Amino acid sequence: MSTAPRNRFSGSTALVTGAGSGLGRAIALALAAEGANVVAVGRTAAPLDETVALIEAAGGTALAHPADVSRADDVKAAVRTTVDRFGSLDVAVNNAGVFRGGGPVADLSAKDWQTLLDINVTGVLYGLQAQVAQMRTQESGGAIVNISSNIGPHRTQSGATAYGVSKAAVSALTRGAALDHIADGVRINAVSPGASATSMSLRPGETEAERDVRMKGESPLGRVAATSEVAAAVLYLASSDAASVVGADLVIDGGASA
Ligand SMILES: NC(=O)c1ccc[n+]([C@@H]2O[C@H](COP(=O)([O-])OP(=O)(O)OC[C@H]3O[C@@H](n4cnc5c(N)ncnc54)[C@H](OP(=O)(O)O)[C@@H]3O)[C@@H](O)[C@H]2O)c1
Repeated sequence: MSTAPRNRFSGSTALVTGAGSGLGRAIALALAAEGANVVAVGRTAAPLDETVALIEAAGGTALAHPADVSRADDVKAAVRTTVDRFGSLDVAVNNAGVFRGGGPVADLSAKDWQTLLDINVTGVLYGLQAQVAQMRTQESGGAIVNISSNIGPHRTQSGATAYGVSKAAVSALTRGAALDHIADGVRINAVSPGASATSMSLRPGETEAERDVRMKGESPLGRVAATSEVAAAVLYLASSDAASVVGADLVIDGGASA
């Protein structure tokens, strides 16, 4: 297999939400490494600045834009900043998300339910709306990848029902929006990771080493996905390699939902 560096996003601009940590940071770094100008979005400025510093240290170009994806005006402002600074929005990755409400459905709090819907579902909707509004004005259109989960759309996990509902909605939103907007020149797809090497896959109080032992029993593959493995799937869907892929939902979960 060739190990030559690829440059699939040279000259393009990508916006990544939740880019201050975990999967979002890995996706932002991978896009920048393949030539994209990256706008890193999240609520907290300091980790976004760290992502930008990592990209710049590797010779890339990036900008931090603090924003809360559950606020429509914030999301629109992030797209505006992107276009003002770099001239276009070619790729958007709606990755920001939270896990809340672990436990049985009967004990779920209204607050946790609402937070999941506000950030995981409405946040993706606002992202799609602001991103498509820009991309449909561009002759070259654009590509959007939403980060869903295997839990919800692809498998059921006891104790994670509310989160699963929010992610099933992300997958449904992706397929519907993909059909609505392919005629606008905007390709929309999803990646559904399983347990991945970020803090979100840790149970309360669990260390990474303990999680890795647990995964040997729980995952058919026997391990979590590396953040770079999830990023590789996102870059594929966002790139011209996937020019005819529309409304797909690519599961990266080591066989957990097979
Ligand atoms: N890791 C896994 O095992 C796994 C598995 C399946 C799916 N996923 C999904 O993958 C995505 C990334 O998760 P991760 O594992 O990388 O977790 P993470 O490290 O906690 O990253 C989530 C990111 O989203 C940002 N964020 C949260 N709420 C936000 C809001 N309202 N507005 C803007 N940014 C917000 C957070 O930054 P701030 O708090 O600073 O805003 C954080 O940087 C999520 O959608 C998650 O559901 C993860």
